[in-house]
Amino acid sequence: MAITKSFSLFSTVIFLLRITVDAQNYGTALQDNFYNSSCPDAETVIQKAVFAEVDKNLKLAAGLIRMQFHDCFVGGCDASVLLDGNDTEKTASVNQHLRGFEVIDVAKEAVEAVCPGVVSCADIIAYAARDSTIRLNGTGWAVQGGRKDGCVSFANAAEEELPPPTLNVSQLIDLFAQRGLSEKQMVILSGSHTVGVGHCDKFIERLYNFSETHSTDPSLNSTLAEQLKKECPPRNFNTTLEIFMDVITPGQFDAKYYVGLTKQEGLFTSDQSLFEDSRTNDIVKSLIDERTFEREFGKAMRAMGAVGVKSEGSVRLNCRMNNE
Ligand code: HEM
Repeated sequence: MAITKSFSLFSTVIFLLRITVDAQNYGTALQDNFYNSSCPDAETVIQKAVFAEVDKNLKLAAGLIRMQFHDCFVGGCDASVLLDGNDTEKTASVNQHLRGFEVIDVAKEAVEAVCPGVVSCADIIAYAARDSTIRLNGTGWAVQGGRKDGCVSFANAAEEELPPPTLNVSQLIDLFAQRGLSEKQMVILSGSHTVGVGHCDKFIERLYNFSETHSTDPSLNSTLAEQLKKECPPRNFNTTLEIFMDVITPGQFDAKYYVGLTKQEGLFTSDQSLFEDSRTNDIVKSLIDERTFEREFGKAMRAMGAVGVKSEGSVRLNCRMNNE
């Protein structure tokens, strides 16, 4: 009887602890230092591989930061974005310019060589995103591990779940709220546009025939608008041309994206509207402080990295395909 009682007390305590951990992780048990005992070198091996690959082509760093977003927002952080196939997420038009898949392959191969079948591809995406910001002079953050890999991936899910750059603040708030992320976290995560590029088709509607009263979006800095018009003519523009999203320090993972927004230099409607809208204007201003941005960005990436995480699933041996 005594044993039964203390066992039930013990399980109640464990249950309550579980709920606390789960609440922090939006429904799963992710952990810091997750591979400490199962694969102590995992994080170091992955980081070394990511650094080596990104050093060959620095553009891939931005691609890998974006990859975590595109993975987590479509069916949760389960590496579904990595699956090859006819109609998988990576074939969606919204993922047309997503890059860094080969970096994940190299990191996976490196970690499989030391601990076969232990580290999930979904966790590798999360580590690689953090390591990429470090390569761009960011300070990094502690990444939680424990995600399992999913086995399905559909292009139409990516088209439906990932936001076009024309969204306004209400739409952005809704989209992030559907994943348990606050409007503040949405503004912070948008700060990743401090690195990387966009293509003309993503903002051309801001340059020409914008509205009945304005041919160019009045919330776009007029000097920048003239420059962008030269690079992106109304017809037959170069579809491969890459335009920096942060014109102040394009290769640095810093808070200058927000400074750019105060000068109306946000490239997309979804960027600039964060400054124009009274609900998010104060958040933008608070993130201009580098230390605040560093700290808050890591926290927000941890929250995004916990969206829809699967505790049941596999550890793929090759990130591009399901195990036999
Ligand atoms: C808030 C809603 C968001 C919208 C509407 C959006 C939209 C876009 C678009 C249209 C591009 C350029 C695509 C192209 O023309 O090649 C882009 C690039 C990028 N996005 Fe976002 N994004 C959002 C949020 C995020 C988040 C949350 C992250 C990461 C945490 C992120 C990281 C990036 C990065 C790093 C790039 C540059 C990629 C490269 O240079 O290869 N974005 N985003």
